[in-house]
Amino acid sequence: MEINKIYNEDCLVGLKRIPDKSIDLVLIDPPYDICTTGGKKGTGNLAKDIMKLEKELINNDLVNSFDIKVLDELVRVMKDINIYIWCNARQIPMYIKYFNLQLKCKLEVVIWNKTNPMPLYSNKYMNDKEYCLYFRNGGYCKPKNYEDAKTVYISKANVEDKKLYEHPTIKPLELIRKMIRNSSKEKDIVLDCFLGSGTTAVACILENRNYIGFEINKKYYDIALKRISEINEEDDIK
Ligand SMILES: C[S@@+](CC[C@H](N)C(=O)[O-])C[C@H]1O[C@@H](n2cnc3c(N)ncnc32)[C@H](O)[C@@H]1O
Repeated sequence: MEINKIYNEDCLVGLKRIPDKSIDLVLIDPPYDICTTGGKKGTGNLAKDIMKLEKELINNDLVNSFDIKVLDELVRVMKDINIYIWCNARQIPMYIKYFNLQLKCKLEVVIWNKTNPMPLYSNKYMNDKEYCLYFRNGGYCKPKNYEDAKTVYISKANVEDKKLYEHPTIKPLELIRKMIRNSSKEKDIVLDCFLGSGTTAVACILENRNYIGFEINKKYYDIALKRISEINEEDDIK
């Protein structure tokens, strides 16, 4: 399998071509297991925004979790278990069972705290954070400075990136770069098999790592390709 390339295919198919124990770090953001209730959410701008987001997630098949067999493939291809997984609260028990209880990995939780969440708190807490679970057995975690060692990343929800790269669940590039710096070395191979708009690949280029990416949706794959070629052009100019 070629490195520094992204593939427009189902990762469960593509992963089979990656040799055993060849990947240094996995960083994935699979579709969350989201409970969409459907129906009307009331009137007004906020209700309209929520319905628009739900529709976008449903239309792009981003509300159903993924085939758990992907995890077996990821464990097969990693040199040591060294994996970051974005998830929502409903998915945490499944990952703890798989990586902690079965594979005896260590766990760290990195939080993205959004300072401007939608003000929805009727009979619930507000949606102002996202979880990224970091599991390792061996693996590598060497933050080089105080900022990189923090486990809570605070920023606004990245509305501008969402608009720019047309992906509803895009993650902050700065945070992905920090995870890559902390848990891999220069020239290591980083795998993201749910690439979306290509954030992980762009972070790898900026941090001088090699990457492999899979994205099943042609629209997002094309966006990721464009982002990667733009960042490569900028890198060449420097
Ligand atoms: C949560 S998004 C990732 C967003 C990404 N972190 C970013 O910053 O743009 C998950 C992506 O996985 C893709 N996907 C879902 N199932 C897949 C599969 N079986 N193989 C490859 N990609 C898949 C979806 O199309 C979606 O773009």
